[in-house]
Amino acid sequence: MTQDGRGKVAVLGQGYVGLPLAMRAVEVGYEVVGLDVDESRVERLLNGDSYVEDISSQELTEALASGRYLPSADYADVAGFDVAVITVPTPLREGIPDLTYIEKSTASLGAHLRAGATVILESTTYPGTTDELVGPLLESVSGLRPGSDFRLGYSPERIDPGNKTWTFVTTPKVVSGVDAASLEAITAFYDSVVDQTVPVRSTREAELTKLLENTFRHVNIALVNELAVFAHALGINIWDAIDAASSKPFGYMRFTPGPGVGGHCLPIDPSYLSWQVKRTLGTQFRFVELANDVNDHMPDYVVRRVIASLNSRERSVKGSRILLLGLAYKKNTGDARESPAVRVAQLLLDLGADLRACDPHTVESPRIPPASMVELSTSELESADLVVVLTDHDSFDFELVEQHATHVLDCRNVPTLASSEVL
Ligand SMILES: NC(=O)c1ccc[n+]([C@@H]2O[C@H](COP(=O)([O-])OP(=O)(O)OC[C@H]3O[C@@H](n4cnc5c(N)ncnc54)[C@H](O)[C@@H]3O)[C@@H](O)[C@H]2O)c1
Repeated sequence: MTQDGRGKVAVLGQGYVGLPLAMRAVEVGYEVVGLDVDESRVERLLNGDSYVEDISSQELTEALASGRYLPSADYADVAGFDVAVITVPTPLREGIPDLTYIEKSTASLGAHLRAGATVILESTTYPGTTDELVGPLLESVSGLRPGSDFRLGYSPERIDPGNKTWTFVTTPKVVSGVDAASLEAITAFYDSVVDQTVPVRSTREAELTKLLENTFRHVNIALVNELAVFAHALGINIWDAIDAASSKPFGYMRFTPGPGVGGHCLPIDPSYLSWQVKRTLGTQFRFVELANDVNDHMPDYVVRRVIASLNSRERSVKGSRILLLGLAYKKNTGDARESPAVRVAQLLLDLGADLRACDPHTVESPRIPPASMVELSTSELESADLVVVLTDHDSFDFELVEQHATHVLDCRNVPTLASSEVL
């Protein structure tokens, strides 16, 4: 085992999850191959150009300079690995889990698997994936048996992009193995890169842990979102009620409404669980279905509020200048995948809005015409019929917004925007 930090680690997938893990493994002394099939990403990594916000280009450059980090698109480079961690995407395709990335990376890895090595799945997936899919696939390619010949397990990733307090290192890591020896090897590996490991009974419990965490968040966000719609209609300020409820020191956890959920986790992970419940038990996971329904409709609700705001001033969406602040799904990150803000933008464009959008973090703005992307300025604020705050990035100058915007619909309840209309 490579506890002393001198073994070889292969990290499959160099994205939001894989790159931070690779960097940390280099930092503690492992030799790391960062494998990604996206050659343009590998090229950027080789040039010391990070595309993941939590990893600075300087950190990346230092890792390269250590001589112990090799970004690569060639699976031959993982040969001789001691530990391999799979961090490839697990999206939905037409509402159904798409495990093709796990299958392909596992099959490629299997060709280089040696007796005594350790394989860990980190991608979020439904319970059973590690022992029903990854184990048998590795065995069929390598001829080696999980448990007896090599170590296999699952460890969910809890990375929270942009969170400076709870980082990869400080966030406890749940670990599991298909047998006692696998659990021991996997615990030892993570003990060398994070502050605390939390071993669980089996890979299925570990897989379910991740889905439980994300479903919990998804459902609670849906609860406050639905309540926000009703509270507004009843003339009650939901934000005041949430602040007051948050003063309860026990039995309550604060969640806040917004334009919907986005990113790689919340809109997708709970559906992995509901799909499995349906497939295996023939039953609907009603909480997930309901939460999906509520959260999916929040962008429509935001647009309804935009229409109402313009309507009260005898304006239509068509032809009105609307400035959106924030396209990323989450504060202080550049991730616009599945972002509800992008959906809001699309709906407004469809209605003929003269749309402008501003997001200093979002490098790519999927489906938003590049010409609509602007910098936040006095003139953009003054010429907008309505400013809609969709993501409350710290880098936005909200005092400027408060001073120069004529009308603001604030979906995040930014304290500085005292005179705006809140969601
Ligand atoms: N982003 C998050 O905040 C987060 C948090 C916890 C868990 N997760 C889970 O972690 C997994 C990865 O998510 P991510 O956000 O890092 O995705 P990502 O898209 O940022 O990165 C995945 C990378 O895997 C690469 N890849 C695809 N097929 C490959 C293959 N066959 N071999 C090697 N590389 C391959 C892709 O090119 C991509 O660069 C998903 O299951 C996700 O649900 C994500």
